[in-house]
Amino acid sequence: MAKVKTQYVCQNCGANSAKWIGKCPSCNEWNTYVEEVIAVLKTNLTTLKPLTTSATLISEIKHLQEERIDTLSSEFNRVLGGGLVPGSLVLIGGEPGIGKSTLALQIALNLDKKTLYISGEESLQQIKMRAERINNNPKNCYVLSEVSIETIINQIEHENPDIVVIDSVQTLQTERVESSPGSVTQIRESTALLMRIAKEKAIPFIIIGHINKDGNIAGPKVLEHMVDTVLQFEGDRNHIYRILRATKNRFGSTSELGIFEMQGSGLREVNNPSELLMSQSDEDLSGVSIAACVDGIRPFLIEVQALVSSSAYGTPQRTSTGFDLRRLSMLLAVLEKRAGFRLGQKDVFLNIAGGIRVDDPAIDLSVICSVLSSDQDISIKKDICFAGEVGLSGEIRPVNRVEQRISEAQKLGFNQIYISKYNQKGVNFSKFNIKINFVGKVEQVFRSVFA
Ligand code: TYD
Ligand code: MG
Repeated sequence: MAKVKTQYVCQNCGANSAKWIGKCPSCNEWNTYVEEVIAVLKTNLTTLKPLTTSATLISEIKHLQEERIDTLSSEFNRVLGGGLVPGSLVLIGGEPGIGKSTLALQIALNLDKKTLYISGEESLQQIKMRAERINNNPKNCYVLSEVSIETIINQIEHENPDIVVIDSVQTLQTERVESSPGSVTQIRESTALLMRIAKEKAIPFIIIGHINKDGNIAGPKVLEHMVDTVLQFEGDRNHIYRILRATKNRFGSTSELGIFEMQGSGLREVNNPSELLMSQSDEDLSGVSIAACVDGIRPFLIEVQALVSSSAYGTPQRTSTGFDLRRLSMLLAVLEKRAGFRLGQKDVFLNIAGGIRVDDPAIDLSVICSVLSSDQDISIKKDICFAGEVGLSGEIRPVNRVEQRISEAQKLGFNQIYISKYNQKGVNFSKFNIKINFVGKVEQVFRSVFA
């Protein structure tokens, strides 16, 4: 009998090697190599099949009007790029408890198409309980509690649903390979089977995936290569806002963003994020300023809160939520060195309202204004907002999509916006009905804001 050939495969990146290795040379992860049997291909070059298909000239391919399935959720549609594409695989990743199952079930319940919700994590009773919280009037949703991929495929063949939800890919198990659920080989084989039936029957699949401690979708990177769309569902579990963003999308842009609010009765769509991200108090508070941000391509205004107080201990504390701590330290150093404010002996706490993480550098200007406003105990007028990146020498640098930021601020009733004077090129500011202050240096901003 021929000897069974095996190789060692990295469970993280899929690299292989003839011998076991402790540290993967390709992805640098430790202890990820597992022995797998090499499948022997029976054909060799001399016995290749005769030519049955031929390549097509690209200009001769007819353009099919791309059909999309409306998910009846404008935020979800937006992130998908206009709805679900038949036969596509959409993977939703996110931390435990963030609301992935809730989102998927809610979509399945609201649709008037025939949906099949398959859960390997919850019993039918548990799904029913959740469904009752979300929607009292489900239309055409079938549920199944199952982990075997063979049974699932049989069910799909039998039920012929229009949309299938799988919660989660890590629970799936196929008889074809002998490893435990959640292992690389299981996930890869199961997804390949799902992909085949999705393309064959033109059914879109929404697949939920767990993430590992680094925030990536658990399992092989191959999974992300196989699916058409990868969405990340994120937010702070202690806050009510959730953001859905695409990190890969074969049928749309990855810069779109969907915002939801977790309520007692499921997820509510937030069509105007700005109103929610700013506190509605009428009082003028020091340490609060508003930044005109853009995430992806969507502008929104967000409140930045700072608290500066004299340090009770020898070493001052710097704490930041929703904003990079190192960037905060850099901005404080700029204030100290370029504008002469003494913050070295003070505690600085920074918080972005709504539990949202902002990476947009345009928030810098708002951060330093909040810090100074708290330090000087002078409130910033409620009708002012900011959009500018701050450089190491204290210069205000231009930001992208400045027109969108200004029109969003204007739409929400702001009377003034501070932007970089280097942002003037190629923009027609006369169409705006809001006072635009062009500034070049941080000192200039303070003199104007705290005058
Ligand atoms: P869930 O969808 O189970 O998270 P995941 O599948 O990502 O692990 O979400 C669970 C959380 O959402 C849980 O803490 C309860 C909360 N929740 C609500 O606040 N309102 C609701 O209507 C539902 C169904 C859940
Ligand atoms: Mg879940």
